[in-house]
Amino acid sequence: MEETKDKKKRMLSGIQPSGELHLGNYLGAIKNWADRVNEYECYYFMADLHTITVRQDPAELRKRSVQQLAQYIACGLDPEKNVLFLQSHVPAHAQLSWVLSCYTMFGELSRMTQFKDKSAQHKDNINAGLFTYPVLMAADILLYQPDYVPVGEDQKQHVEITRDIAQRFNSIYGDVFTIPEPLIAKAGARIYGLSTPGDKMSKSVPEGCVFLMDSPDEIARKFKRAVTDSDTENCVHFDKVNKPGVANLMNIYSTITGKSYEEIEAEFAGQGYGKFKPAVAEVVVEHLRPIREEAERLMKDKAYLDQVYRDGAERAAYVANKTLRKVYKKVGFYQL
Ligand code: TYM
Repeated sequence: MEETKDKKKRMLSGIQPSGELHLGNYLGAIKNWADRVNEYECYYFMADLHTITVRQDPAELRKRSVQQLAQYIACGLDPEKNVLFLQSHVPAHAQLSWVLSCYTMFGELSRMTQFKDKSAQHKDNINAGLFTYPVLMAADILLYQPDYVPVGEDQKQHVEITRDIAQRFNSIYGDVFTIPEPLIAKAGARIYGLSTPGDKMSKSVPEGCVFLMDSPDEIARKFKRAVTDSDTENCVHFDKVNKPGVANLMNIYSTITGKSYEEIEAEFAGQGYGKFKPAVAEVVVEHLRPIREEAERLMKDKAYLDQVYRDGAERAAYVANKTLRKVYKKVGFYQL
């Protein structure tokens, strides 16, 4: 892998297997990853270490960690061309995280939006892991020396703190880490819930969340109930402030079909939401159909998925351990 570093830039990203993958994860992140493989050297992982900052059912977590791999592959991430792995299979993540936590300030972690949100949601379990989560994320990233980290908008702050930590470390020890750039897609960077268009689409509101594995009927039902707007205009027009629900549906439709908002407005002129909502459902159903079918097929081949994980862990660990050794040496840990 290392020899190609000079030729291709590197990209890395991850998703927590804390729930089913949904349209927000897909349009905000995965869809953009699959297109990059010829241009970049790509590392994508399932962030299982991160999930236990919130209580998980162990059997469910195990199951979803395999399902998520099947879904990554079904979304077009070829395991021959991308390094696909499970975070807990590469111990260097936890090891670097400890070192970096000593170069991260309490104050900067206190300012993280996700920490504030999650500690408000889980008041009975504001654990230290929830607080130091961004340090582990920084370790995930910096171990692989990536140039770019493709994420949805909500993760931008975490990539920014990663840059701050890396710069701080480099300023003490020299050029140890590549400073990564967040890569936020123009379309799909923030998909809102269908039932709550003021909040990002999230598994915690399942009725407004379209999961990649939902049946066509289920998807049609969720779009049918999608909140549009409170005015009586019934006109497909892009206005994020006054018609957030319609703007969200237009964003979804546009991201999948590649049509501009003007083209969509023209296509549905005079037709109202009654025609528009089923049309959005239809493009989503047809787009997700081959992904669902392929993921279902792959899930029957557990031996293959395990082998992908084994290969991925080996390829990832090769790169990660190289960075970890360098860091250990720089901070003064005695080497044998
Ligand atoms: P996570 O698991 O919450 O989400 C995974 C990816 O999906 C994007 N995303 C969305 N994009 C658009 N609209 C939405 N409604 C939406 N919901 C989620 C997220 O921005 C993200 O790109 N901390 C990370 C996981 C992680 C990671 C990393 C990512 C751990 N280590 C290292 C990159 C690099 C997280 O919780 O994402």
